Amino acid sequence: GGLVWRGCSAGSDAEDGSSGALTNGDLNPGDKLEGPGAATDDPVHLKRRVGLFSGVALIVGTMIGSGIFVSPSGLLERTGSVGISFIVWMACGLLSLLGALAYAELGTMNTSSGAEYAYFMDAFGGPPAFLFSWVSTLVLKPSQMAIICLSFAKYAVEPFVSECEPPYALVKLVAVIAIVMILAVNCYSVNLATNVQNIFTAAKLVAIAIIVCGGAYKLILGNTRHLQEPNFASSTATLGNIATAFYTGLWAYDGWNNLNYVTEEIKNPSKNLPLSIIIGIPLVTFCYALVNVSYLAVMSVNEMADSEAVAVTFGNRLLGPMAWLMPLAVTISTFGSANGTLFVAGRLCFAASREGHLLDILSYVHVRRFTPAPGLIFHSLIAVAMVLYGTIDSLIDFFSFTAWIFYGGAMLALIVMRYTKPHAPRPYKVPIIIPYLVLIVSGYLVVAPIVDKPQLEYLYAAAFIIGGLLVYLPFVKWGYSLPFMDKITVFLQMVLEVVPTTTTFE
Ligand code: ARG
Repeated sequence: GGLVWRGCSAGSDAEDGSSGALTNGDLNPGDKLEGPGAATDDPVHLKRRVGLFSGVALIVGTMIGSGIFVSPSGLLERTGSVGISFIVWMACGLLSLLGALAYAELGTMNTSSGAEYAYFMDAFGGPPAFLFSWVSTLVLKPSQMAIICLSFAKYAVEPFVSECEPPYALVKLVAVIAIVMILAVNCYSVNLATNVQNIFTAAKLVAIAIIVCGGAYKLILGNTRHLQEPNFASSTATLGNIATAFYTGLWAYDGWNNLNYVTEEIKNPSKNLPLSIIIGIPLVTFCYALVNVSYLAVMSVNEMADSEAVAVTFGNRLLGPMAWLMPLAVTISTFGSANGTLFVAGRLCFAASREGHLLDILSYVHVRRFTPAPGLIFHSLIAVAMVLYGTIDSLIDFFSFTAWIFYGGAMLALIVMRYTKPHAPRPYKVPIIIPYLVLIVSGYLVVAPIVDKPQLEYLYAAAFIIGGLLVYLPFVKWGYSLPFMDKITVFLQMVLEVVPTTTTFE
């Protein structure tokens, strides 16, 4: 019973483009896991099926998730003015665009999967690459999942508590239920997970369309006064505040690098990869601008900054008897995003343990369902802990801080390789000023909030990264393993009914 580790048709699949890259592997339960070299010794010829249109759809589908439905309030609060918050929204779009263009060079230069992992390996060697996979499996992916599920819960609960602050415990409970449901979907079958993905992706576009049309209608009626409101707060815009405002905004744009996980499947990548980026990211930026204007066409700046779920407030003001449409569309959209994020997280975990970078058990698949259940469960457990411990805003800070360390690292990798591998073929070459610029901005984004207002979250993130090194040396570099690990692995294998697998998926 070989299973084709099916991706879904590109474009509609992925919340995260990465899912598409991990296709075509025949998983044969019972076979042994292959060593680190496997992926390169035994290339699978992935079909190049992502054209320009699918590329753009993949970028747009990944980037639009929960952020545009939760971030606008926080961003307004953090910047203290409509004008500055609008500038931050646009700057986040620009930064994502520039970052993605640099990734286009990296992705066409080194087409092996794993994106950042592969670039760090090339530019800096093993330890930084390990740190990346360590942090992305332990921190980045679970926190994405936690943030999206908390946003889901906010919207699922809000209609029932009518515009007052929903009880905190209830939101967390619903978020945990969402995680468990998504875990069940992804453990049950790969097909189900990809179908959920395809159907739910449409919902977010509907939600955006409703908001933009509604806002346009209001503006045509002449409802422009909130857009002209002066600063409503005494200027809170310190440098650190602006940086965390960027965190909030950049969350909504996260996923701009996801096409890099499917470079092998892009038709004519040196042309279509940069082109999809140049079309897709400004398109999202444009949508976000319109949505922000629409929100302000319907509510005042203060109402928006105070709103717990800004799209619900929008729906209540504008849609009358159809107001239920908004929370419904947003819950479906966020559920889909979380599903896509877990789908990818499972594969990431798989890839990292295949490299010997995580516990073996995390790369095993279920005997009959062929789903990477241990990895999925592992991620979900961390995500649940984050939901219980954190809030959307603190998790977004935690996530963005960590993510931008690595995005900055990728810029550095690009710059370093211009010197260390000057003659490597670069089908797409980005103007060198761009990675320098993004590197400087990411340095600012990482340092400014710490200097301005040290938070425990940043310390945790730093501890995770450094903790990674402590694990790397004994267990990866020197190859030690814990004496009782075998027994635990066997025990878990029996409980979960999972087996090692030979995989050729990239
Ligand atoms: N930008 C998305 C949102 O607003 C989050 C994407 C999470 N990142 C990812 N690679 N899936 O919810």
